[in-house]
Amino acid sequence: MGRQVNDYKTDKPITPKKNGESMAKEKVTVSVIKADVGSVVGHSRPHPSMMQVAKKILADKQKQGILEDFYVTRVGDDINLFMTHYKGEGNKEIHGAAWECFQEATKIAKTMKLYAAGQDILTTAFSGNVKGAGPGSAEMTFEERGSEPMLFFIADKTEPSAYSPILSRIFLDPFTTTGLVVDARAKKGFDVEIHDVIDNKKVTLSSPEETLSILALLGDTSRYAIKRIFSRSGIGPACVVSTDKLNLTAGKYIGKDDPVCVCRSQSGLPSVGEYTQPFLMTSWIAGGWMRGSHYGTFYPCSPEDSDPTYFDGPPRICCLGFQLNDGKLQGLEEYNSKGGNHIPVDFFGNSTFDSARANAIKTSKFLRTQGPFTPSILPAEEMEYTSRPEVLKELKPRFVNLEDDDKKKKPVKKSKSGSVDVE
Ligand code: F6R
Ligand code: MG
Ligand code: MG
Repeated sequence: MGRQVNDYKTDKPITPKKNGESMAKEKVTVSVIKADVGSVVGHSRPHPSMMQVAKKILADKQKQGILEDFYVTRVGDDINLFMTHYKGEGNKEIHGAAWECFQEATKIAKTMKLYAAGQDILTTAFSGNVKGAGPGSAEMTFEERGSEPMLFFIADKTEPSAYSPILSRIFLDPFTTTGLVVDARAKKGFDVEIHDVIDNKKVTLSSPEETLSILALLGDTSRYAIKRIFSRSGIGPACVVSTDKLNLTAGKYIGKDDPVCVCRSQSGLPSVGEYTQPFLMTSWIAGGWMRGSHYGTFYPCSPEDSDPTYFDGPPRICCLGFQLNDGKLQGLEEYNSKGGNHIPVDFFGNSTFDSARANAIKTSKFLRTQGPFTPSILPAEEMEYTSRPEVLKELKPRFVNLEDDDKKKKPVKKSKSGSVDVE
């Protein structure tokens, strides 16, 4: 596309402009759209043919010039489509491409009689955007820097707010991210856009000044989730999370939202290592897991290791890295590889995270020992679409008012006249 190349540190142009003219920088959009449309053996993993059909559809869109580039991957039972383009966020052609992938993958899932075929497809007609139609999306638009390292976190069997404590550590805590203290641009702080996923509202607060207010909201993980974080030193968006709540969209519980988080890194933003570090610091407890109703520990792994094999989990998270190159994804594959043939850097797919995985299983097993009681299961409001309302409805006529019960139990004593008095 002929955009100028900037120095990776100063972000100043280092290549002469064509014909001596200055070229306006076009903003690139990175869109990740994901859905669970059926899987092989319960809620485990999409069939390779489903991934294949998505790849074929997106390769056609790339040939047609709709997409600049793309990569199809999965985590657990969710298909994740990474797409880059110059059409902006919420674009009909881009969302339509994803919708087509999920429709065709659903057809395959149905033909094979796979489990929960078409699970996240909640409408019959596509209205131009996947929002409210079932799939989750996270999109960001920005001026590509001289070098643009990106991380894509993708998760299964959990909810959008699962990223909140982790992103808080990365962007708000100088004891975690040294860059907040020593990188002059990171030190300017970040604006955090928080969504109230129940009442569909948003508020933007600034760190470091309002850090404690940010944490006061985010602590309520059933209502608040980080949607976006912006640099306050002019770099633009740092990260975006898919905050679509499936149960609110569908009106009933149909599975967890299995959110993605797209991040830009380095040079004024958290470095790649500052993004990955928190996954070794502690075991992150995430709501979801079995029947979307339990707390389990995030298990950082490679997509290949993301089958939820223990009690349908525990919640899996993968971290894949790409460089952007004029809107194209550059991983370990050859330069200018087309057709979605990319090899991302798989950050959690190595032995460094062995201890995090072992801890995830150990702590998840411990949580399981509490059975169907909190804190093993989610709070009541998060489970309202499970069986409890029905159980309550059935038992309603059998519930007795305790005051009435007390009255009935009051001792009776005989009066002198022989009549019976009730105290
Ligand atoms: C959680 C999930 C699974 C299912 C569980 C029951 O997001 O996908 O844990 O909730 O396997 O599934 P159904 O209700 O389909 O039998
Ligand atoms: Mg599923
Ligand atoms: Mg899933």
